[in-house]
Amino acid sequence: MSYKVTVSPFSHSFECEEGETILEGALRHSLLLKYGCKHGGCGTCKVKLVDGDVDEPGSSFALTSTDRAEEIVLACASVPVEDCEIDVEPNNLTEEEFFSGDKSRCYSTVLASVDLLTTDIARVRLDITDGPMPFVAGQFVNVEIPGTALVRTFSLANCPSQDGVVELICKLYPDGAFSRFLAEAAPGTVVKVFGPYGQLKVHLSHRPILMIAGGSGLAPLLSMLRDLAAKGCDRPVSLFFGARSEADLYLVAEIREIGAGIAEFEFYPVLSQSWTQDWPGETGMVTDAIRRWRPELAHDVYMCGPPPMIDAAVPLLLDAGVRPRNVYFDAFTPAAQTVAI
Ligand code: FES
Repeated sequence: MSYKVTVSPFSHSFECEEGETILEGALRHSLLLKYGCKHGGCGTCKVKLVDGDVDEPGSSFALTSTDRAEEIVLACASVPVEDCEIDVEPNNLTEEEFFSGDKSRCYSTVLASVDLLTTDIARVRLDITDGPMPFVAGQFVNVEIPGTALVRTFSLANCPSQDGVVELICKLYPDGAFSRFLAEAAPGTVVKVFGPYGQLKVHLSHRPILMIAGGSGLAPLLSMLRDLAAKGCDRPVSLFFGARSEADLYLVAEIREIGAGIAEFEFYPVLSQSWTQDWPGETGMVTDAIRRWRPELAHDVYMCGPPPMIDAAVPLLLDAGVRPRNVYFDAFTPAAQTVAI
């Protein structure tokens, strides 16, 4: 048994086999729907279900209540149970991209370095041996843990103009498979990287830019900052970086150095749990610091961090006047370090 999936606005349809997700069906027919994690975590593959019905057997926590109310589904987690029509407007896809199929690919890299930035965050550099890998600042990759079939998702932290390099900022977990690999791997170990994926990117506008990072969520924003500096950005950029304590902040000097290349750059590290009396910066939740900073906002906002940070920030930003369509974010979860928008 198979079901027909009609794709608007491209007036094209393809068949999904019994039990096949909409994404699997599209890719099997050499069509593209943008995707990332393929397991319901990142939200990249959102489409609108216009007609018909689907089963959602897997995880779909990347959907907000607003998404569900608007019949948005995840193509990677939706299995048609009857003929369907989907609208790919939420997938941000052009007709040319749709018909030209999946251009992401597997890259071979070698582990160049692992540097501890805090007690539980490391910077990892992989050198691509069959690149270059063109990407947009804000995108992410899937990294296969050598010797396993396990894949972990990480944002790219380097500037897109830095050819042949994959720089990741990785949260370390005591029992994490990738953390164990990093602890034991020798430089030169071959690592497969798939990508690039994701739709997070700096959008063209005249509005000032507000960036909000938590923990290892700094990575895509760092890539964006580097790219903005390299391109001579003349929009004001403000970065709030939340951490538990001063020991959990990292790359502070590097951020200031990058920021010096941007005409108007403000950087606010915010400590939420402990700080010394002479700590000169902000304290409390990063959202409280933003509220104190500006009660009214008319920014484009880019965020990456744990879901609770995103959940707290979105209503605050909207209350302060940011338009919903100008809020772009990735949320990540410990299990898969999944990035989402
Ligand atoms: Fe579907 Fe990530 S690819 S949620």
